[in-house]
Amino acid sequence: MRRKLIAGNWKMNGSLAANAVLLNGIKGELGQPTCTVTVCVPAPYLAQCRAELAGSPVAWGGQDVSIHDSGAYTGEISGGMLADFGARYVIVGHSERRTYHGETNELVAQKALCALRAGLVPIVCVGESLAERESNQTAAVVGAQIDAVLTRLDPKDLAKTVIAYEPVWAIGTGKTATPQMAQDVHAMLRAKLAEKSAEAAELVQILYGGSMKPDNAKELLAMPDIDGGLIGGASLKAADFLAIVRAA
Ligand code: G3P
Repeated sequence: MRRKLIAGNWKMNGSLAANAVLLNGIKGELGQPTCTVTVCVPAPYLAQCRAELAGSPVAWGGQDVSIHDSGAYTGEISGGMLADFGARYVIVGHSERRTYHGETNELVAQKALCALRAGLVPIVCVGESLAERESNQTAAVVGAQIDAVLTRLDPKDLAKTVIAYEPVWAIGTGKTATPQMAQDVHAMLRAKLAEKSAEAAELVQILYGGSMKPDNAKELLAMPDIDGGLIGGASLKAADFLAIVRAA
């Protein structure tokens, strides 16, 4: 039975003062969760997460990783640097980075491998646009995104990876995929993973992201191939984030 993972993606939000309130709000009311909980924060706040969360059930992580270990890559952050601040997870290939930074399927697969080599758990994001869904290209688009990862990672590394299915049209829109729509894509992803490694397919957590909220989390998380959530807006409010954790 795969343990559920609830991961908050703060995106480019936060301040030292607001983070202190949010992190203490989460930590203070969390108790002993039955799922794994992490927050993925802007890199300047990793030190604050380590100070506030060390010893708590909440892990922390980053939102992108360089494919380089060091060198003349201004502005980039290596996996080793994230690990230096106690990061356990790192999001790679989020649709906002694929869109605004031209990240290709191959680059995302390389980022996932670099994260693993730094001892991090990559949360690899895949998902289709509204136009792609409406033209019945979801399987082709998401299939190509996961194929790039399957090509690059061996079964051992794949087993340590997390996948997040985030239909782009559901991100930040309040339009959530129905549990069945999400389950259908998650099952397709699981089948693709199984083509590479039956063992990895059983171990890999496949998260759903895209307007997961306290009022829809339970139904989504009850689906057999939905192993957790990657939460944007609702991760910025302690009460909402905790409600989703409790639904897992
Ligand atoms: O990475 C998670 C994010 O894309 C989902 O955002 O605000 O729809 O929960 P949101």
